[in-house]
Amino acid sequence: MNKMTVKDLDVKDKKVIIRADFNVPLDKELNITDDRRIQASLPTIKYVLENGASKVILMSHLGRPKGEGPEDAFRLNPVAKRLEELLGQKVLKLDDCVGDEVKAAVDGATEKIILLENLRFHKQEKKNDPEFAKQLASLADVYVNDAFGTAHRAHASVAGITEYLPSAAGFLLEKEIKYFGQVIENPQKPFVVILGGAKVSDKIPLVESLIKKADSILIGGGMAYTFLKALGKNIGNSKLEADKIDTAKDLLEKAKEAGVQILLSEDYVIVEDFDKPETKRIVDDIPDGWDSLDIGPKTRESFKKVLATAKTVVWNGPVGVFEIDAYADGTKDIAEYLATLKDVTIIVGGGDSAAAVAKFGVEDKMTHISTGGGASLEFLEGKELPGIAALQDKK
Ligand code: 3PG
Repeated sequence: MNKMTVKDLDVKDKKVIIRADFNVPLDKELNITDDRRIQASLPTIKYVLENGASKVILMSHLGRPKGEGPEDAFRLNPVAKRLEELLGQKVLKLDDCVGDEVKAAVDGATEKIILLENLRFHKQEKKNDPEFAKQLASLADVYVNDAFGTAHRAHASVAGITEYLPSAAGFLLEKEIKYFGQVIENPQKPFVVILGGAKVSDKIPLVESLIKKADSILIGGGMAYTFLKALGKNIGNSKLEADKIDTAKDLLEKAKEAGVQILLSEDYVIVEDFDKPETKRIVDDIPDGWDSLDIGPKTRESFKKVLATAKTVVWNGPVGVFEIDAYADGTKDIAEYLATLKDVTIIVGGGDSAAAVAKFGVEDKMTHISTGGGASLEFLEGKELPGIAALQDKK
């Protein structure tokens, strides 16, 4: 990577502002249900503290508030609490992220770690407003971006702020760039991609770009049915994006021309109704009125045969509705099979696939589990991410 990292910065006696991605899921009582993004931010925070930073100022967004002031459901208080538990140290949580009061609180704090309030309570954050970016920058001496999950957003705390401070990547961002960069630039072959998830429309640019790089693409999950329809298969009531059938046809054609194998389901786990798992059956042809929610056992075996040949695997999106046990077998089987592979680089794209490998207890068998959902997709599509582009090049 040719970008400066936190190790290239002199942080001794400096106030270090770190953009993290603490956009974590919360339940109705505002408890964090998955703290992996917070855990992933700890190495950089600990490093700057151990290297003599006078203060660590953390900032993030959470959810998608309106941008018209504070909304209690989107406050970062649960994150502050979790950070305190994980770091074993007091975290001063402020109620805003810019302004005179915030500046005075940062300068006067006896605590070493300060967490600013949700950046998106100000609409200027998403607009990449230069004045807002300057105010954030005025709180610190140096800037570190460790928010891979937000690197695809050209927002003030990600892009604009780098105009005003020495700017470097944190360890998490560096690690994500290392693994995704390797896949984009020089994947060890055979390179096999497993794609799933609900919407084909989200993955079209990704499939386009993978056709130029991968050897095989295995498609499951909700997005598969639009491809199956394009091949003239019966899909019953399964998820369909009718306006994308032609695009799916086109992608299948392009893959064929490029010699890239696209594998789709050959059998299905179907139910009469999503809420009636007791009606579950396994079939080769989906009857009218039935809904397919997982790949069947034959498909799993075909997918595994291809995976057995791989040297690099990227997994983005579950192949069934794995959150519900009745429809989880396909995703579970794939996760468990990946865990048995030796000498294979396995990269799991963020979001649902990361949750799936966690659910099935195979996280430690994966080479890298990304903290980015949209960001990992855009990176794999070969797009330049504004949060990375904005950082200073290594001298
Ligand atoms: C994510 O969860 O993908 C990131 O935190 C970005 O969130 P956003 O899609 O609301 O910008």
